[in-house]
Amino acid sequence: MEQGNVPACVAQALRWAWGRLRRVGVEAPYREALLITSHVVGTDPAELVAKDGELDRGARDLLRELVRKRGENYPLAYLLGYVGFLDFVLCVRPGVFIPRPETEGLAERARALAATLPLGARVLDVGTGTGALAVAIALVRKDLRVVAVDTSELALRCAWENAWRLGVLNQVELRRSDLFQAVTERFHLIVTNPPYVPSGEIPGLPPEISWHEPGEALDGGEGGTELLQRIIRSAVSHLESGGWLLCEIGHGQGAGLLRFAKGVTNWLELRVEYDIDGRERYLMGCLGPTI
Ligand SMILES: C[S@@+](CC[C@H](N)C(=O)[O-])C[C@H]1O[C@@H](n2cnc3c(N)ncnc32)[C@H](O)[C@@H]1O
Repeated sequence: MEQGNVPACVAQALRWAWGRLRRVGVEAPYREALLITSHVVGTDPAELVAKDGELDRGARDLLRELVRKRGENYPLAYLLGYVGFLDFVLCVRPGVFIPRPETEGLAERARALAATLPLGARVLDVGTGTGALAVAIALVRKDLRVVAVDTSELALRCAWENAWRLGVLNQVELRRSDLFQAVTERFHLIVTNPPYVPSGEIPGLPPEISWHEPGEALDGGEGGTELLQRIIRSAVSHLESGGWLLCEIGHGQGAGLLRFAKGVTNWLELRVEYDIDGRERYLMGCLGPTI
């Protein structure tokens, strides 16, 4: 991408970044230009437009470099090092899955259920990534104990940082585990946003995702539901009686997963709910009495 000179004036630099991002087809060029420029200036995006300072040489070089990388489909969240999630901000590192808006819907459902759990209840987050779900749940009640597992050491380090920064490290225990392999306890609530993209669809995802996000966070096997099925099967022996399993799923996976879950055990409640775009997104099951 042709870069040209970055103007020193903050307002003009913002306009420059906006123009560059628009030209390369970034979907929300003004919003992204605002976020990148305020990151370089070190100010809140809401205050940037009123800022009448100048960018020094180093800041202009950095802005040019960030805009160039963004133009090459490098994810915004990796450039900034953070992403907003619900009412807080998570740090995110290259190699760790970037939390998505649809997962906020899962977190909200989990928070609503968490409010009904007994004192000191235990929650499990399978495939925690940045710790988005684990932290979101821990933040609503100080007495909840959350175990968060992942196979990725990078993800666990990022989740640790987020739990620490957001003041819930005393509630969140991080474990390296292949699904339930290192989990022996039972839980009142199990949440998971596992990889659920069919392997064959990964190369066709936008390059921003397929080139830069970790494959092991996306790849759900041939039909996309391999890990979901393993999780549903194992969850039954890790849920307390009356405990809830909340899974994020892909559109079109609902009917098959409902059928699969019904074959595994008797659920008191079992349903699929939709995200705000009207797509199948959340599988929710409440386990009946365990023997
Ligand atoms: C789609 S990401 C979700 C991350 C986070 N929960 C979120 O919603 O933003 C899936 C996560 O599951 C992890 N993962 C993949 N396979 C796993 C396995 N077998 N056991 C545990 N974690 C796994 C990945 O490393 C990744 O962090």
